[in-house]
Amino acid sequence: MNIAWLTTFLLVMILVSGMNAVDETDDLQGQIDNLKAQLAAAGYDRYSAYDLVWQSLHMAAAAACRGSTPTGGRGYWPNAVLTRDVKAKLNCAQLCSKTKYANCDAEVSIYGMNGKATENGQQVGSFYNYTCAGSLNGGSEVSSADEAIMGTTSSHYFSFCCCRK
Ligand SMILES: *[C@@H]1O[C@H](CO)[C@@H](O)[C@H](O)[C@H]1NC(C)=O
Repeated sequence: MNIAWLTTFLLVMILVSGMNAVDETDDLQGQIDNLKAQLAAAGYDRYSAYDLVWQSLHMAAAAACRGSTPTGGRGYWPNAVLTRDVKAKLNCAQLCSKTKYANCDAEVSIYGMNGKATENGQQVGSFYNYTCAGSLNGGSEVSSADEAIMGTTSSHYFSFCCCRK
């Protein structure tokens, strides 16, 4: 092979590999666009997995309040669930009274472990009634890290106040 042929051959090789690189880049960009579209369609561009679990906790707290409130939360207004941070050393009677939902009906401290259970009879959650007057125990959503919702210990609660107008 003379030098002219070798040069042509090398040039062609470089061009071909360059074209492949462009194709692969296009392909990767297409995959990224596709993934982004799928995430957006499913709402994951707006909420993290943590946000979704925090919302589930809030739904569970509202349901627990509905069940724990003697009247079931009747009256002329929707009733409120407030988060209680034990570090603030305020009880639910005090927290409710700071809002227009001034009457405390109940305190609920609840927790559910993340992930699917694998054994019959496995503990998947925990709860406690610290009452409207209790300020020393419960939980601390506000001062917890975002990831704390994914914790797995059964002694770990989040505390909520069930307040009525
Ligand atoms: C929680 O405890 C208080 C005080 O003992 C009690 O009055 C209330 O009925 C309890 N709530 C529930 C839902 O058992």
